[in-house]
Amino acid sequence: MFSLGPISRRKFILLSGAAGAYLAASGCSKQGKDKVEIATAVELMEKQHGILRRALFILDEVKGGMDARMELPPEIIQGTIEVVRRIVVECHQKIEDESIFPLFESAKKMGGLVGVLREQHAAGTQMIGILGQFAADFSVKDLEKRRTMQNALHHFSRMYRAHSDREDTQLFPALRQIVSPADLTKLNETVQKLDLQILGQNGYDEAMAKLEGFENALGMGDLAAFTPHMDELR
Ligand SMILES: [Fe+2]
Ligand SMILES: [Fe+2]
Repeated sequence: MFSLGPISRRKFILLSGAAGAYLAASGCSKQGKDKVEIATAVELMEKQHGILRRALFILDEVKGGMDARMELPPEIIQGTIEVVRRIVVECHQKIEDESIFPLFESAKKMGGLVGVLREQHAAGTQMIGILGQFAADFSVKDLEKRRTMQNALHHFSRMYRAHSDREDTQLFPALRQIVSPADLTKLNETVQKLDLQILGQNGYDEAMAKLEGFENALGMGDLAAFTPHMDELR
């Protein structure tokens, strides 16, 4: 998975102006060799979608656990929602709203889709607030609270999965058709700077540490455990 640690992020900001679309890898001594491509705006947006999907997966597991009336650590719901608020609402949606959607609006392309995506950002922000309130007062033993939470999680997950899938398969692939290579480079630089400004040096590491902790607590931390045994399928 693509990752920018604190050091490489800082290097990017320092070097992006001079290096254009490329960043010399650390320790590189021969010009033109061992160069790595910097993270583009789309790569960063897709990475944040990946974090969103991991958070939704956790919330789906929590929702399933409620059906079985499992005792769930309350901090898992609250903490996962907080990660989505930080990465998606405060950073990701802000970048899309202010730096990506306007490019489509200026080019008068995909207006219908962008309009719905903007509405869903507003809805998602509201839902985060509502889920936060529900989580603060949640008890798995309270049938009404359980149903209310499950219903809210269902709509939250459903909307954000459809939303991010449309962006990944329709909107982002069309970026290159509406902006020049030079403007795309500017966009990459703008998005990198905003991302660092909003999330700080350790924003991704902190978010991932929280999600991985929740995944481990729910018994879903080992990727290999998701591989089915073929004889179980028959
Ligand atoms: Fe979006
Ligand atoms: Fe997005």
